[in-house]
Amino acid sequence: MSERQSPRRPRKITVPWVAEAPARSDKLVMATAYDFSQARQVEAAGVDLVLVGDSLAMVVLGHDDTLSVTVDEMLHHVKAVRRGLDHALLVADMPFGSFHGRPHTAVAEAIRFVKEGGAQAVKIEGRRPELIQAIGAAEIPVMAHLGLTPQSIHRFGGFKVQGRGDEAARALVEAAREVEAAGAFALVLECVPSQLAAEVTAAVSIPTIGIGAGPECDGQVLVYHDLLGLEERIAPRFVRRYAELGLAGREAIAAWAEDVRRGRFPTAEESYADPSRSEESVGRLYG
Ligand code: KIV
Repeated sequence: MSERQSPRRPRKITVPWVAEAPARSDKLVMATAYDFSQARQVEAAGVDLVLVGDSLAMVVLGHDDTLSVTVDEMLHHVKAVRRGLDHALLVADMPFGSFHGRPHTAVAEAIRFVKEGGAQAVKIEGRRPELIQAIGAAEIPVMAHLGLTPQSIHRFGGFKVQGRGDEAARALVEAAREVEAAGAFALVLECVPSQLAAEVTAAVSIPTIGIGAGPECDGQVLVYHDLLGLEERIAPRFVRRYAELGLAGREAIAAWAEDVRRGRFPTAEESYADPSRSEESVGRLYG
């Protein structure tokens, strides 16, 4: 029996299965992805959830923060990721501005992520129980996100650890209970002290998915570019780089450039020799 067919892990990951992870004592694994090939790669590696995060703004589009990315830009990537997934649950991040106005506008934007993008859930930053209820009433599961919510960096004064001090810690636990009561099926906790993340995890029955929130969360999420060593501008303490693909990619491209300049690429085997064989295909397809 393959891992995918095991009774603990359904072939297709669903929202109820994710929501029940704490009861099973399962650790959830969520990674971000932003295009078709990344989606295929993270799914083949066995992640449970794939998030098209608004971190797209920084790691793919090159902005300094997440604030400028639009719903249309996010949708472009959500659609590509959708085409790369078969088993994992696809979550689309609602970008800054898409849910900060009237609730009916936020619901309409959430619907676009499902209808046009093929997302199975949306993620919303901040303590927004009414919105979670309104989007839930439109049959769209909502993943909440508390702690360091990067869309609030101007209010926070930068990317700073949240929940420090008794009052802030109490407020975070309260906010977690509130988003759960509003119907969120999971909760991302970003950059909060481990002890506090453990308290929140114990205080709610929905799974907590941590990033910089210590080991006691019900799951973990990392950004694709951080995990693979592709992001070279910032190095938060919570990132473990499992590969150095940025460096490996640079070295590969430099080797190719050198081969081109020295006349070593392409070889005869990499060229089409006989002009009369017009039926010759371009080559094999990648599997
Ligand atoms: O945008 C993002 O990638 C995120 C994750 C870091 C949780 O929100």
